[in-house]
Amino acid sequence: MTSSLVTVAYLGATILFILCLGGLSNQETSRRGNLYGIIGMTIAVLATIAGPQVMTAGLPYIIGAMLVGAVIGLYAARVVQMTQMPELVALMHSLVGLAAVLVGYANFIDPAVTVGLTPAENTIHEIEMYLGVLIGAVTFSGSLIAFGKLAGKIGGKPVLLPGRHWLNLAGLVVVLWFGYRFVAAHGVSEAMLPMIVMTVIALLFGVHMVMAIGGADMPVVVSMLNSYSGWAAAATGFMLSNDLLIVVGALVGSSGAILSYIMCNAMNRNFLSVIAGGFGSDGGAPKAAGGGTAEPAGEVTPITAAETAEMLKEAKEVIIVPGYGMAVAQAQHTVNDITQALRARGVNVRFGIHPVAGRMPGHMNVLLAEAKVPYDIVFEMDELNEDFPDADVAMVIGANDIVNPAAQEDPTSPIAGMPVLEVWKAKHSIVMKRSMASGYAGVDNPLFYKENNRMLFGDAKKMLDEVLVALKA
Ligand code: TAP
Repeated sequence: MTSSLVTVAYLGATILFILCLGGLSNQETSRRGNLYGIIGMTIAVLATIAGPQVMTAGLPYIIGAMLVGAVIGLYAARVVQMTQMPELVALMHSLVGLAAVLVGYANFIDPAVTVGLTPAENTIHEIEMYLGVLIGAVTFSGSLIAFGKLAGKIGGKPVLLPGRHWLNLAGLVVVLWFGYRFVAAHGVSEAMLPMIVMTVIALLFGVHMVMAIGGADMPVVVSMLNSYSGWAAAATGFMLSNDLLIVVGALVGSSGAILSYIMCNAMNRNFLSVIAGGFGSDGGAPKAAGGGTAEPAGEVTPITAAETAEMLKEAKEVIIVPGYGMAVAQAQHTVNDITQALRARGVNVRFGIHPVAGRMPGHMNVLLAEAKVPYDIVFEMDELNEDFPDADVAMVIGANDIVNPAAQEDPTSPIAGMPVLEVWKAKHSIVMKRSMASGYAGVDNPLFYKENNRMLFGDAKKMLDEVLVALKA
């Protein structure tokens, strides 16, 4: 394939990637978005290996490596549970970082890369390599620690070294100094020491940065590392003079940064304080079944599945708020059956989705889409928060923090200021969970003790099955 054909293919792939990102921003178009991404990536890979930069002798190695990668990817996609997605993503980011480091070193060692470059071009190339390895090494070690924390192999508690900000600053100064030495050096052997020192510092910085971040902030960190991995890929693109890699890296880098920002807003966390670390105790670390440490502070009124069904039958307006517990119980299909049964009786059923419900962005939307809940009755928090006073029943399924009125009413609460779904304003609310255990943030929920609230205790799937039977009876 000639280089101009490759450029045309890359242009097509770039457009498909942009369409992909656009599609993924909405659940109705997300499937199509994914398809665009798959086609774009296929074109990109084929054009790259058929292009003039790849020698025929290298093809068997590339195809062999792709086959191994495809088998691992297929296996992972099949066995990894939905709730393990964030740790898989963290692991994948570490690979992008490692690739940037390896490409950087390969470029650095290979004398052929700099043949024919003017001194100015050579300096630019050296800066690209230095930055590529730096970002790649931080992404690699940071993502491995994030994986360890999310998988529970490393404690979720933030590890805060004394004078950690000074340590980071000292590391930055050393990296800048060795960067200068690296660019000023003559030949690989002289530049090797600065490169190695910088790599070690970058690896240590990645470990230090993520170790200082508590369990509660880990998903934001994964999204931030996603952004880093994009910039690492863009740096690799510069090193390899590959325009597509630069564009795709920049797309991933900026979309990851925007996502981190949105998540911080939804959790009422300041982005800089997340990076500075220290928030989120072990109580905030992901636990398979949720459940924090706060003591219940009041009397609750339980309700049975049959009584719940009666309330739902009499309602005209119902708002369902799903949370992490629905994912744990895999109750989404029964939720859809109940929705259909109620709609058949003329009840207006809508869903209210909090931006950080569950454990990853879009968690609830994915589950509801899987269960075939119609898109047009699924609303973002901001779209329907004002409608709770008109709802006869607000049904909370395995959610806790995202419906906690303390976020608005108690300025001393750890979640004070976090935007929440105002279910307590509905005429009646029903909270479905197994016990009085707290949610991810480890704080008590005053909603449970409100006069118009009822607690339906039990596994969400089991209880909803009973509600469905009673509804149809
Ligand atoms: P949580 O506050 O964690 O509450 C989930 C509740 O589900 C728990 O209180 C638990 O109570 C209940 N539960 C667990 N298993 C259940 C089952 N099988 N059946 C019924 N109930 C079950 O979840 P949420 O309200 O969705 O809020 C999400 C939290 O995660 C927020 O604090 C958010 O900041 C945090 N977070 C989210 C994200 C993203 S991107 N989504 C990222 C980082 C952090 P029982 O144990 O009593 O059953």
